[in-house]
Amino acid sequence: MELLEKLMVSKNFLMEKEVIEPQVGVILGTGLHHLLNHVKPIKIIPYSEIPGFPISTVEFHKGNLIYGNINNKKILIMQGRLHSYEGYSMQQIVFPIRVMKLMDVRSLLLSNAAGGINPGFKKGDLALIDDHINLLSGNPLIGKNYDELGPRFPDMSEPYDRRLNNLLQIKAREAGIELKTGVYAAVHGPNLETKAEYRYLKIIGADMVGMSTVPEVIAANHIQLPCAAISVITDECDPDNLKPINIEEIIKVASKADEMLSKLFYEVIQDL
Ligand code: HPA
Repeated sequence: MELLEKLMVSKNFLMEKEVIEPQVGVILGTGLHHLLNHVKPIKIIPYSEIPGFPISTVEFHKGNLIYGNINNKKILIMQGRLHSYEGYSMQQIVFPIRVMKLMDVRSLLLSNAAGGINPGFKKGDLALIDDHINLLSGNPLIGKNYDELGPRFPDMSEPYDRRLNNLLQIKAREAGIELKTGVYAAVHGPNLETKAEYRYLKIIGADMVGMSTVPEVIAANHIQLPCAAISVITDECDPDNLKPINIEEIIKVASKADEMLSKLFYEVIQDL
């Protein structure tokens, strides 16, 4: 089946499940699920039930699409993000973004856990991504271009929507949340970086590094879905003083900052 047909099958399935006119899409990063406490769920649908949604051949990945309300806004939340290190292709990772757009989602908010390269970034900080560097070997737009979705050569001069970024900054200020700003470098993982790699990332202009987000943002730009993304800084990547880190520690730091991040998303969603 061609991509466009697969997308329509997926959309129609969701509409039959009475997922109607979601306005905002949200992708929750590793260890970041506090926002779900603010949501009145209407439908919780496992990815495995949705036609076209990726099923990993490498490892079972638990994931749900949650359709619900935050105040009066209808939102679609991806609980469980798809990473390339799990064996998903770039096209699989961005499939849900395309479905969201076809369902008329008008804004996409993303979150992730990231390592802080900028020495001013500390564990538990929130940082607005205002640009990125794609160090992944793939790209979701490789292959046949579907002009119905977007152009062959999409512009990336401003991949993170200015209006959404402004709104996030305003709401952060109002809530007394310090929001840093920086450039996110996307790497494959799953291993963390070596000292030399952290040094390199700093030299090329990255403020933070993580294993996600960029494929989704590329696809969102391609299909003209305005998006914004926030990193939770979970470890400090100082090559001259690098301490071993582990994923448990990263998840612990992420879940501490998660409340702040969720408050910020909650406030912004009301105004979208
Ligand atoms: N590197 C890559 N990905 C990450 C890191 C890191 O240091 N921390 C959280 N995700």
